[in-house]
Amino acid sequence: MNNTRKTTNYKKINNINIVRKKKKKNLYAYADIILIIIIILAVVLFFKTRDNNNNNSENTNSIENEKYYKEENKERYLSYQEKNKKWNIEKIITYVNIGLDQDYYTNVKDSPNKYTNIVLVNKYYYLGEDYVPKNLTKISNRYAISEDKYMEHDAAIAFEDMAKAAQKDGYQIVAVSTYRSYKYQTTLYNNYVSKDGEEKADKYSARPGYSEHQTGLAVDVSNNKKSYTKFGETEEFNWMQDNCYKYGFILRYTEENEFITGYINEPWHYRYVGIDIATYIHNNPMTFEEYYVKFLEK
Ligand code: DAL
Ligand code: ZN
Repeated sequence: MNNTRKTTNYKKINNINIVRKKKKKNLYAYADIILIIIIILAVVLFFKTRDNNNNNSENTNSIENEKYYKEENKERYLSYQEKNKKWNIEKIITYVNIGLDQDYYTNVKDSPNKYTNIVLVNKYYYLGEDYVPKNLTKISNRYAISEDKYMEHDAAIAFEDMAKAAQKDGYQIVAVSTYRSYKYQTTLYNNYVSKDGEEKADKYSARPGYSEHQTGLAVDVSNNKKSYTKFGETEEFNWMQDNCYKYGFILRYTEENEFITGYINEPWHYRYVGIDIATYIHNNPMTFEEYYVKFLEK
């Protein structure tokens, strides 16, 4: 009886030992697998990091080779590219050079080329409170909605020539809003803000000091029958599309360019830039901002 119990106990202990040994063996087997997995992960990580580094330096190299690349904007290009993968490098460079990676009305600079027909004014470039064009010239009553319409000399002459040519073709184009002083733009903008709030007003009105109208080179037009806000629906608008460049004017704010200019479509707002630039832009559609960073910026 005693002997039988001893044998049974011995068997039990033996069984437990076997189970323990098996468990230990299994653990060792797992350790091998875990080690292999760790090695594989390390190798994958190594190659991935190497590829990323290569891509980054290839990226930086190709950006640096771009025509309009500016060393001081390098970090901005890379970070803008990261957020805007849909655009090619040329667009990334152009848009950052314009300033599109920064919020409107932040980091504003003095307008370049002041007192010339190629002055740039937008939500990044400011004319200032004291800016008054030097050669304001009255637009003939024949081509203006009222008496008091003034533009900078070259723009005034070109506008009258254009309106005259339109008339010859059977269309009527009149100036509705031309030069606006800083003070007048302040009143206008403040009224719009009271009516629509700042966010909405900013989409269709420039803040004082930031309006092309203050340069004397911009003109809002109508066909003298409908409100200027309906100008896009008129035959005169089509005539302008085909002809305004011949007189040195460009259509400044369009729907597809809203993300650049920061203004909604304004079929009535034309900007005098001179015949050469207007013709170039007519043949190679782009905003004046794009033209500026490509051809005028020093
Ligand atoms: N409406 C244009 C953007 C201006 O206020 O100058
Ligand atoms: Zn306007």
